[in-house]
Amino acid sequence: MATSGLSGRLIPALGVLVLAGISALGGTCLGRWMKTPVPEAPPHTVGLPLPPALARWPKPDLTLILTAQQYGYLLPCGCSRPQVGGLERRYNYLATLREAGWALTPVDLGDIPQKQGPVNLSNLQGLIKYRYSMQALKKMGYAAVSLGLYEAKLKIFNILGEYALNDPEPKVLAANLANKDSEFPEQVFETTISQPPGSPIKVGITAVIGPSVAKAMKDPVAKFGPSRDAIAKSLESLVDQKVDIRVLLYQGAISGAATDASEPIAAAKAFPEIDVILCVSEEDEPPGSPLDIKHADGRITRIVRMGHKGKYVGTLGVWKKPEGLQYKYHLQDLGEQWLTPEGGLAGHPVNELMERYAKELDRADFLGKTPQSTHPFSASVPDSKPTYVGSDKCKKCHEEAYKVWEGSGHSHAWQTLADASKPSLRHKDPECIICHTVGFGYQTGFVDAGKTPKLKNVGCESCHGPSSEHLKSTSDETWHKLMNPWKAKDKQSETESKVRLQRLDQFCQTCHDMDNDVTWVNQGLAKKWPKIAHPTPKDKQ
Ligand code: HEC
Ligand code: HEC
Ligand code: HEC
Ligand code: HEC
Repeated sequence: MATSGLSGRLIPALGVLVLAGISALGGTCLGRWMKTPVPEAPPHTVGLPLPPALARWPKPDLTLILTAQQYGYLLPCGCSRPQVGGLERRYNYLATLREAGWALTPVDLGDIPQKQGPVNLSNLQGLIKYRYSMQALKKMGYAAVSLGLYEAKLKIFNILGEYALNDPEPKVLAANLANKDSEFPEQVFETTISQPPGSPIKVGITAVIGPSVAKAMKDPVAKFGPSRDAIAKSLESLVDQKVDIRVLLYQGAISGAATDASEPIAAAKAFPEIDVILCVSEEDEPPGSPLDIKHADGRITRIVRMGHKGKYVGTLGVWKKPEGLQYKYHLQDLGEQWLTPEGGLAGHPVNELMERYAKELDRADFLGKTPQSTHPFSASVPDSKPTYVGSDKCKKCHEEAYKVWEGSGHSHAWQTLADASKPSLRHKDPECIICHTVGFGYQTGFVDAGKTPKLKNVGCESCHGPSSEHLKSTSDETWHKLMNPWKAKDKQSETESKVRLQRLDQFCQTCHDMDNDVTWVNQGLAKKWPKIAHPTPKDKQ
């Protein structure tokens, strides 16, 4: 068991290296041939019921699954409940439909990776997370994905090298990528066809990068041609292939009031033969139904948006009737009803991928690879080199503060990660460690539990900064001021008090942000500060 797991993990990684070399010489066939086939996973069933809204539908002849703008969220977004989204839940939703005998064609608009790391972390994990996302989409039977600004932020060349170069599924579409054949041979396509087993409906899919997104991409290699010409050419080819439905993945947004000036609307009006357009969302939350563009001849183009961070899945049922195709839309949120049922994690394809991801971070020592910057304190006091010393050192002089801290969630924040499952090894993931330890990413800050055991958990210095200089001279007020910039003046005006609290609130939210602490809204500071308040008792001053 352990051995096969190991080879499964190592060989694809080697494959990538070998392939990168070969493709530079032209042609990827040899590389594909060299890749050891990964053994088929045993069939896995999720065993959840259809959502009530869909249980009322007659079984569709085909169902389009529409997703977009995942922004690197492999896991449900955030730390506090209720969490929404994540690839495991998306898999469970799709598997549930398939277990009910539905034929699915899933497509994704792109913006799959994150464009930056959380909390000023460098984006070391962006590409790897993209690879695991694509692997998960493959497990979910995705027919096509496209490329957006977030892919371009990591450079299209890197993105394609990370996945499409080695694996043709899901197909990457960008019909107006002008130099795809010269720069990205066999990696990017104009169209693809999907007809899942059991469905009488043949779907034709194409994708374009709209002018505004193409312009904003500033990719050093990828060059984009006019999107109109590319759509026209793709539609011609889809007509030749006698598809029943035409789907366009459109990298462009409907901005503000939905007018003809919006690129996706203009595309819909120019090409009435397009049945469905999936376009970019400017809002976090998607609209509950498609925007229907009705054409003079009675045809309809349905424009769908999916919001951000992969929290929702658009579900478009299609029925083949004598009078033509009929459509029905359902917007599904990925709430806790899509958690894997008790006992179902063994053999869960996406959970296995997430575990592999966690192990890859650990094996390649991403904690150790994270660059360390100088703490702003050094710039405030020239020639000083303050270092982190650990909360233990504060106990003897600040007993009350220590007691409060010891009893708070902060004192076991690292342990929370070490204890986590689904996936495990969260304490080896920089993107989690950054908020759950002391000084990660700063010189002398947390590196790992072995090298810096005293800096595990959120400690005094997570808030007060590296304190070695304060220990050298505990009465030095320069350091007092730097370490406690939130101190109230003896007499302060209402405005001063307000500003002080606002700054403190903002500071807490560097970690208690909207993603990771949804309970912070509505007076987060007023609710939570009392739980960790640690004033020095008057008689100690
Ligand atoms: C040897 C005793 C001693 C140790 C050890 C010590 N401090 Fe202090 N600390 C003091 C004294 C004395 C003051 C000034 C009086 C006061 O505000 O309590 C002070 C003040 C502070 C202040 C308040 C500054 C202000 O003006 O509001 C902070 C914050 C602080 N220390 C944090 C720490 C942290 C964090 C540690 C551990 C890394 C630590 N101290 C270790 C003695 C100590
Ligand atoms: C370095 C990141 C970080 C900063 C800064 C931070 N926290 Fe936290 N906080 C955490 C983490 C992580 C947890 C969860 C610990 C656990 O349960 O493992 C937490 C938990 C808490 C809890 C306990 C859980 C709860 O919601 O009741 C309180 C209270 C809290 N923080 C208050 C604050 C306040 C107030 C501030 C600002 C003064 C603050 N925190 C600043 C990271 C931080
Ligand atoms: C931006 C800062 C930040 C990042 C990054 C972060 N966390 Fe947290 N985490 C927090 C805060 C703040 C809390 C406390 C939330 C609360 O009190 O509701 C917390 C709490 C938790 C908890 C306890 C939740 C509970 O209900 O007790 C877990 C588990 C957790 N985080 C896991 C993770 C994992 C896994 C990652 C990486 C994928 C991660 N965190 C990344 C800030 C962060
Ligand atoms: C989550 C952030 C956070 C953590 C963790 C934290 N503090 Fe503080 N501490 C603050 C803030 C904010 C203030 C200022 C509050 C105010 O003046 O209203 C403060 C104030 C203080 C003061 C000045 C108290 C006074 O009477 O003016 C001392 C001393 C201090 N902290 C020491 C510590 C020590 C020692 C630890 C660890 C055992 C610690 N703090 C952990 C945020 C934190």
